[in-house]
Amino acid sequence: MSETYAVPTRVTQGSRGPIPSAEAYRETWLRAAANPDRFWLQIARERVVWRTAPTIGLEGGYREVRERPFTWFADGTLNVTETCLDQHLATRGDKTAILWEGDRPGETRTLTYLQLHAEVNRLANTLVSLGVRPDDRVILYMGMVPELAVAMLACARVGAIHSIVFGGFSAEALRDRVLDSGARVVLTQDEGPRGTKRVPLKATVDAGIEGLDVERVLVYRRTGGEVPWVAGRDLWWHEQVSSASPEFTAVERGAEDPLFILYTSGSTGKPKGVVHTSGGYLTYASYTHQVVFDVREDDVYACVADIGWITGHTYIVYGPLANGATTFMFESVPTYPDAGRYWDMVERHGISVFYTAPTAIRAIAAHGDDLVKRYDRSSLRVLGTVGEPINPDAWRWYYEVVGEGRCTIVDTWWQTETGGILIAPLAPATPTKPGSATLPLPGILPALVNQEGELQVGPSSGYLVITHPWPGQARTVFGDHERYVSTYFSNYEGLYFTGDGARRDGDGYYWITGRVDDVLNISGHRLGTAELESALLTVDSVAEVAVVGYPHQVKGQGVYAYVVLQPGFEASALVEEALNGAVRSIIGPFARVDLFQFVPGLPKTRSGKVMRRILRKVAEGEAEALGDLSTLADPSVVEVIKCGAKV
Ligand code: PRX
Repeated sequence: MSETYAVPTRVTQGSRGPIPSAEAYRETWLRAAANPDRFWLQIARERVVWRTAPTIGLEGGYREVRERPFTWFADGTLNVTETCLDQHLATRGDKTAILWEGDRPGETRTLTYLQLHAEVNRLANTLVSLGVRPDDRVILYMGMVPELAVAMLACARVGAIHSIVFGGFSAEALRDRVLDSGARVVLTQDEGPRGTKRVPLKATVDAGIEGLDVERVLVYRRTGGEVPWVAGRDLWWHEQVSSASPEFTAVERGAEDPLFILYTSGSTGKPKGVVHTSGGYLTYASYTHQVVFDVREDDVYACVADIGWITGHTYIVYGPLANGATTFMFESVPTYPDAGRYWDMVERHGISVFYTAPTAIRAIAAHGDDLVKRYDRSSLRVLGTVGEPINPDAWRWYYEVVGEGRCTIVDTWWQTETGGILIAPLAPATPTKPGSATLPLPGILPALVNQEGELQVGPSSGYLVITHPWPGQARTVFGDHERYVSTYFSNYEGLYFTGDGARRDGDGYYWITGRVDDVLNISGHRLGTAELESALLTVDSVAEVAVVGYPHQVKGQGVYAYVVLQPGFEASALVEEALNGAVRSIIGPFARVDLFQFVPGLPKTRSGKVMRRILRKVAEGEAEALGDLSTLADPSVVEVIKCGAKV
């Protein structure tokens, strides 16, 4: 059994969280498991500002999900922004809501709750004047500026549904999302500074929406750089918003009305628009942010993810603001101007809770301890990780070097579809083990099943499933409920299939081992192998291609592509460049193939199905353990693949 880190006594002192000890956790988890409905209804009524308080918890369930989505708090009405903003005005109006640091170290801005409220109202009025109505979809394609949070909240204020597209996606990826969502309004900015680069956000929007029915593009001026302009369609944010009224009466929404859509990769080539609701999502964001991070009134809470991913939605914007926290927003990258940037900011801003991804931890650790130790980190109390399994070495480095052995590490397991954290230590209550996401949150009922769907009891390994809905769970895929059902509920009857494998030890602790489907997790970003393959297939010289993941020292997983070229073409660095060029232009600059192996053919069964298991094993450096090859049409191709393996 691996080592267990007991809870450091210093950090337990002063915890005012609802779950301050391991005993309190156990008691709460058992109580919630006995009656999840009652548990969540009580939490929802306590934590959310309702117009009409709900009297109903869950309706429906996994077994009936094909006929209709399950619902939480269906008779409740609210506007999410009244929990995130209005309720704080009397008690925390002058408290900093958003503390922002720009690309350049020391370039900061703050917005108090009163200021944020006024900005959100101004933009809400502007959105209405642009014709945005409740349930309209609005695409946000922006960098990490406070205005992105303002935009999310303004959409929520008017009852519109935001869909954020990460700024690292290409024009083509943006176009797919605009089309699928049916958005007619896009919010963007001129450029996004990132280290020494400027991301051309507005120019990408123009390319992405060309020929589509987008009526309005509202452009926030961040750098003042030159941008293309379409007269009659494009409007400057500052010109519209500064003259708008700072008063706006929030639109009343049903608890189950969608709050946002977020596109994520699955095992087909087409990203899914995951739909999150208003009442249930907010309840879950608020509760999990409080109990996992043990957030206190004076905390400076910093999640350095990008708001373009679910982590930023829930743990930069909705969770912290619902809880009246000071939430930090960071525009730049962890290695600019050097790999000490995070700890420099911890010292300057007195950050007490810090939340990042294992990839960033590994990348920074590779630069040595000096860049950490040079800064005062005594303000830190809780250190979080998310997005991919954290290897024990990186965990220990985070704990010992960054946290000086006195902070709680919370390794948080969750997904775009789960809306918030499902399995994680609760700071400071849960004893931790390096590499384990530990135990399920109260109200969360995970299980492990084998291939046949049989529940595994006690210490075991298997596919991670959840047996009961929780309020933050996505309800559907936008415009395609059947896809939601077939992706998550058809593998095992009556269970939510997460797509992850896991192990459970004798203490009931979960150890997530990674995806078991065709989804890769590169630097904590999800990418479907089918999406990569269809991008690569657009290159003329390519006949066939198969993409798998392989273990990567920093990124966790790297992308390994097996490529069969058309007759007459030869492998070369130029071909590789063309292939990655296609990935960049179809998916975006954040995606790329790390290793190419050019092969004469792919291993296929006699019926023509590519045997990915073999390709995965070779890419993982386990070519000696390929198992049964007797079903292959041509086993000799495997020998050639093994000989040319890049790992
Ligand atoms: O494989 C799991 C991995 O990330 C996947 C979800 O990716 P995404 O929807 O992009 O959301 C990432 C941020 C919540 C999961 O299916 N994953 C996430 N957190 C962890 C993790 N794997 C291991 N440990 C984690 N803490």
